[in-house]
Amino acid sequence: MKVVIVIPTYNEEGNIGRLLDLLALELLKINGHEFNVLVVDGNSTDQTREIVNEKSAQYSFTHLLKEEGKEGLGSAYVKGFDYAIKNLGAEVLIEMDADFQHDPKDISRLISEIDNGFDCVIGSRFVKGGSIPKEWAFYRKFLSFGGSIFTKIVLGLYDIHDFTSGFRATKVKGFIDKIDFSQALSKGFAYKINLLFKLHKLGAKIKEIPINFGLRDRGNSKMEESNFLDSLKVVLLLRYKESQSFFKFLAVGFAGLGTDFLIFNLIRLTPVGSKYASIISGFIAMVVTFLLNNSWSFSDRKIVSLATKLKKFVLFSIFSCVPITFRSWLISFSAHKISDTFLVVNGAFFVGILIGLIWNFTVYSRIIWKKEKNG
Ligand code: GDD
Ligand code: MN
Repeated sequence: MKVVIVIPTYNEEGNIGRLLDLLALELLKINGHEFNVLVVDGNSTDQTREIVNEKSAQYSFTHLLKEEGKEGLGSAYVKGFDYAIKNLGAEVLIEMDADFQHDPKDISRLISEIDNGFDCVIGSRFVKGGSIPKEWAFYRKFLSFGGSIFTKIVLGLYDIHDFTSGFRATKVKGFIDKIDFSQALSKGFAYKINLLFKLHKLGAKIKEIPINFGLRDRGNSKMEESNFLDSLKVVLLLRYKESQSFFKFLAVGFAGLGTDFLIFNLIRLTPVGSKYASIISGFIAMVVTFLLNNSWSFSDRKIVSLATKLKKFVLFSIFSCVPITFRSWLISFSAHKISDTFLVVNGAFFVGILIGLIWNFTVYSRIIWKKEKNG
């Protein structure tokens, strides 16, 4: 396969020449693939470009893509990927840093997992056998490891351990070429999280292999303080976009709950009693939530025709009756078995609501407002 190693640089004169020399030796050892190296330079103020130009005269696999300025790591990769696919025929793209924190010897291990059928291979610092520099200050270790745990939990991707590793190999066909990079949430380091999440959503078979993430050889890190907040923003935005319907459903649920709660407690004190009060309040809340969910929470799958609306509302009512009936049973059960007091009755009311929420969201999103299978 045609593999292009994309290496972004900004002021890497101390590293890039030696790295290209080392790559020339390493890449020779890997059989069955054609390698090119694309350096994407963010208008370095040192000798980086001159060095890469010299090396590209020496090694035909070396190419230089010049950016007009330093626009961030994510930006550099997007341009690099595009160039590599269009001009170098890339079928596999490797992301790699210029400062020797990634060992060129590990490239063959990344590639052999691609050969084994994986679509994306991550050189991972947080799987058994992987490591981050022990010289790192506690706060940096904490941010790096803690950040990955946080991302894992918030995005619900429990089988991935290293979301921000800068050393990865990914197949172009069906994966990189399916991603709309103009929609990227970050131009900086956090694009890594964004990209990996999209690959996962595209169904990529992802494999992590352990790497020892070394210390930077020469020069300084370009990671800025703002990177932390940027990553946090990307993770939360991805979560929000992923479950937008759910958050709106929750908000609609709260509006419904308010109506329900108020009407319930008003009628409960009349001769109607707690049991029937909850049935009446539940039904009124149901009409309100159906309309709000249709026009807002699930607006991307909105039911328009009146006939379907009525049909779906009947279905919606039947399904929504299940938790209401259950709740009403739970309330009268608690009132009889425990005591008929405000605390007990409303306690049962809220437990019923919680179970109802889970039931309802599942039924609404999978049955009533079912997503068409094409996107
Ligand atoms: N063109 C371009 N533009 N290159 C850049 C830019 C930019 O804005 N910012 C950084 N680079 C280049 C650097 O010259 C280096 O080759 C590579 O991108 C990584 O930058 P470093 O400054 O070495 O980053 P780091 O070591 O702090 O971060 C590494 O580890 C992180 C996880 O701890 C990277 O691999 C990150 O991707 C990774 O998230
Ligand atoms: Mn680095």
